Amino acid sequence: MDKLISVNDIDLFFEDTGGMPLLLVHGFPMDHTMWEKQLTGLGIHERILAPDLRGFGKSTVPTRPYDCYSMDAYATDLRNLLDALSLQQVILVGLSMGGYIAFAFHRLFPERLKGLVLVDTRPTEDTPDGKQGRLDAIEKVRQGGVKMIADDMIPKLFSLNTLKNNRSLVEKVRDMMTRQPSGGVIGALHAMADRPDSTPDLPSIQVPTLVVVGADDKLTPPEDAMRMARNIRNARLEIIPGAGHLTPLEAPGPFNRTLREFISELK
Ligand code: MLT
Repeated sequence: MDKLISVNDIDLFFEDTGGMPLLLVHGFPMDHTMWEKQLTGLGIHERILAPDLRGFGKSTVPTRPYDCYSMDAYATDLRNLLDALSLQQVILVGLSMGGYIAFAFHRLFPERLKGLVLVDTRPTEDTPDGKQGRLDAIEKVRQGGVKMIADDMIPKLFSLNTLKNNRSLVEKVRDMMTRQPSGGVIGALHAMADRPDSTPDLPSIQVPTLVVVGADDKLTPPEDAMRMARNIRNARLEIIPGAGHLTPLEAPGPFNRTLREFISELK
């Protein structure tokens, strides 16, 4: 796109290849490094933004009471990031907890979305047992650190194929999880336990949406993804063989191909 911009006392002409920014929102308890294979391997000209959510990675860990952690707070942080970068619209890609945040972002700032990619996630709120599980996890983190819940989660996160044949990825993810600050992890557990049911919002999603799920996802299985995709007017579903709950890491080739196709259809 040709552009003219006023700088100092002149109009400066420049070409801008544009490209719809992609905003990659990580899962729990992770950080932006989970998108390594997308940052290096997507092979597109779009601008890719991969932030660390509040309380994770290199971002600030707020020390106020835990009510400063919520899906709305994470979504508002992301909107503020877009404002700071003067970006009007993005394609938001959210994995699991990143998907819960995508629903909050859509509810609060629908005009900032060009497309949605919901990966290994679900719109429903936690069941009573699920909420109790979050409280138990908070206690474990308080007593033994994040390692305690990483050990519980690892077997559920990956497909059998990954657990057996890609130990280096499994250990990398374990390291990523255990280095997250316990304050941010506890905050996220509170936020997930308190999140609302986003199922009633699904029919109001107008933007093109891609739903991706690993065929062996035990936490948010393909049946949930199918139900979710059926309730979104403009959604397409991709089930990726051989992957569990962490499809972009377990099957980066097929995941990136699917994402590239979706992006090219949006242009
Ligand atoms: C995630 O991958 O973000 C978590 O599995 C989400 C959750 O615990 O509900």
